[in-house]
Amino acid sequence: MKHYKPLVWIYCCLIFVAAGARAQDLKYLEYDADLIPGQVYKERREKLMQQIGNEAVAIFYTNPERNRNADLDFPYAPNSDFYYLTGFREPNAILVLAPKGTNVRSLEDSTTTVTVRELLFVQQRNLVAEKWNGRRYGPAGAMKLRGFEYATTNDKFKTMLPSLLWSASAKALYAPTFRSDLTGEIMELLQHLKSMVEQWSGYVEIRDPITLVRKMRVVKSPEEIALLAKATEISAAAHRQAMMSVEPGMGEYELEAVYEYVFRKLGAEQNGYPCIVASGENSVILHYNTNRRKIKDGDVVLADCAAEYRGYSSDITRTYPANGKFSKAQREIYQLVLDAQKTAIAAIKPGVAWLEVSKKADEVLTEGLFKLGVIKEKSTPAMKKFYYHGLGHPVGLNVHDVGQPIMEAGMVYTVEPGIYIAEGIAGVDPAYYNIGVRIEDVILVTADGNKNLSAAAPREIAEVEALMKQKGVGNLAIQ
Ligand code: GLY
Ligand code: MN
Ligand code: MN
Repeated sequence: MKHYKPLVWIYCCLIFVAAGARAQDLKYLEYDADLIPGQVYKERREKLMQQIGNEAVAIFYTNPERNRNADLDFPYAPNSDFYYLTGFREPNAILVLAPKGTNVRSLEDSTTTVTVRELLFVQQRNLVAEKWNGRRYGPAGAMKLRGFEYATTNDKFKTMLPSLLWSASAKALYAPTFRSDLTGEIMELLQHLKSMVEQWSGYVEIRDPITLVRKMRVVKSPEEIALLAKATEISAAAHRQAMMSVEPGMGEYELEAVYEYVFRKLGAEQNGYPCIVASGENSVILHYNTNRRKIKDGDVVLADCAAEYRGYSSDITRTYPANGKFSKAQREIYQLVLDAQKTAIAAIKPGVAWLEVSKKADEVLTEGLFKLGVIKEKSTPAMKKFYYHGLGHPVGLNVHDVGQPIMEAGMVYTVEPGIYIAEGIAGVDPAYYNIGVRIEDVILVTADGNKNLSAAAPREIAEVEALMKQKGVGNLAIQ
């Protein structure tokens, strides 16, 4: 036995070091003090469990990692419905909700069973992988920091699944549709569930839980509104800096850099969507985002850029003159779009249909374009040739978030009319060519009307021109 002793000693030390590291580094997993607390996610799961009832089990899974090239992946984004219920950002995780309760082995003492109503399956801790790619929550982190009743490693999902359904005596299984883009580890983890769903569909009722979650996501809670307001405040600050910084000769990409600098500087993790910095002829392309052109004197710059903060995305567009002063033609189009936007926003309150709000903007734009001679016939189809998108959309965990036709207090919408006049359109005064104007604000529906969360980004012509006289962070020379 003697020669085994050093090995035993080394083994014990390794366990000690690993256990010490595991217990200690939970505190390095969440640096942001304003994450929505685990308790709020727990309440969402409880609310969902009340809806699915005692005779059902629901399963949710998060997005796969997406490969960019070779051994590099795109930055990871969790599935929004899964994230709404968990606040858990790691890949390869699965959530099981069993409202009636299901029996599982106790985590403290594997010889006894306990009854739990929610289980999170997560990636195993892996100290080598973590040294390369960052710390993982593991089951302990998920329970302690994200408030789960029970979490275990995802390798157990396959074997535990039949007994979960059995012990919860589920008559209905809520399982999201298996999307065709599922890849990698999460797809392998779900293979068993997929074949079970196929085999069991005659015996157990299979339903899709996503509709229920999406309904819950429509009206934002105070915590969500606070994060959307913060994302919007940061985005508005970035628009102010961009207006101050822009000058003819700059690359569109330089303005993009100003936006992204301000987003990160003020604590946002990332953009809500790729920055659209569209100058001159590019201003008429709705989602132009190559951002490679040099901005010229006399251009308008349409910048649709906003930050994502703690998972919530804002969405603001401002249009400004590259040289700091709107031309006559730019001013006419800009003022018309602004009037349409203000008219639409004034109509927003609970109980009103979004379609009605949208019509208000259409009327102003149709009347205005007719007066300017851009359209020869006062009709919505004629106007729509220059405004080829909808009035707006809800924002939330997705920049284009889930919504409903009738507005309710706590919903957050963008209102973003625009006019886009491409070069060479017959019958239109060439002075209007290459003028694309969109003005987009983030509007919270309140009990008695609405509140503009993005008001700190100037949009009145005089305010924009006054601000543009100042210098911004984009004008600092890089040594
Ligand atoms: N930023 C995309 C949109 O306005 O819908
Ligand atoms: Mn938008
Ligand atoms: Mn936008």
